[in-house]
Amino acid sequence: MDRLTGKIALVTGAGNGIGKATALALSREGAGLILADCQLGHAGEVAAEIERAGGKALAVQVDVSDEAAVDAAVRSGLARFRQIDVLVNSAGGGSTKDGPVTELDLDEFWRTIRVDLFGTLLTCRRVIPEMVTSGGGSIINISSLRAIIGTHGADAYTASKGGVLTMSRAMAMQWAKHNVRVNVLAPGVVLTERVAAFIRPDNPIYQKSLLGPSEPEDVAYLALFLASDEARKITGTVMRVDGGASIY
Ligand SMILES: NC(=O)c1ccc[n+]([C@@H]2O[C@H](COP(=O)([O-])OP(=O)(O)OC[C@H]3O[C@@H](n4cnc5c(N)ncnc54)[C@H](O)[C@@H]3O)[C@@H](O)[C@H]2O)c1
Repeated sequence: MDRLTGKIALVTGAGNGIGKATALALSREGAGLILADCQLGHAGEVAAEIERAGGKALAVQVDVSDEAAVDAAVRSGLARFRQIDVLVNSAGGGSTKDGPVTELDLDEFWRTIRVDLFGTLLTCRRVIPEMVTSGGGSIINISSLRAIIGTHGADAYTASKGGVLTMSRAMAMQWAKHNVRVNVLAPGVVLTERVAAFIRPDNPIYQKSLLGPSEPEDVAYLALFLASDEARKITGTVMRVDGGASIY
């Protein structure tokens, strides 16, 4: 219950799905939580749940693709908790307007890049100097199995998650000397409310999950490990949570 006691975590996309499950898992192990989401109501509900369980949480509204909004959210978090030891970038996700490069909606391409890739860049850019000042930290960026294996039908999303993966490795190289670790999680199918609403069991990725699709908690447990000092020598890795889909 105390793997993260004394640590403060900022989780983007904390109002739903993987971000929410991760925030709850980190809180159960003693971390104080800054819950950042564009849907403040949802982040507020997660904050209330954490506080009912005896934890500490602050909900902040943010669009991660807006630099000023990211700055304001980080400032609010620091005003309450003074430091940020863990950053989890979970805000984002694909959309049904995505598709093959020859067909996808070009506005949708840039929306996806802005939220999933640029949003991850903005939060890292704002938080890394804080971590350097306080002696280190752990960043966990949520990419996707799509960034690793060949997929079809979501090329904007695949490109953005590929960018998240390689950018994370570059950051891991550059900030290791400041004890800032940067790791990537690459989930396959995770049955969050959003995904469960549109993914069909005949989807090829779904069918390749040898262990079946994951729940948000399956990703959260790995984020919890990477956030903790148990992973103090782990940086620049990409960990798959895909039910074995990538060895299918
Ligand atoms: N669910 C899956 O199968 C799956 C698989 C691989 C990767 N992922 C990735 O995991 C992450 C979380 O996915 P999820 O299924 O939990 O999604 P979700 O929709 O359940 O949760 C995403 C959260 O991000 C918030 N958000 C969206 N845009 C935002 C923005 N611009 N600024 C701030 N908050 C924003 C939403 O309000 C929501 O609360 C995403 O990056 C997604 O690409 C999900």
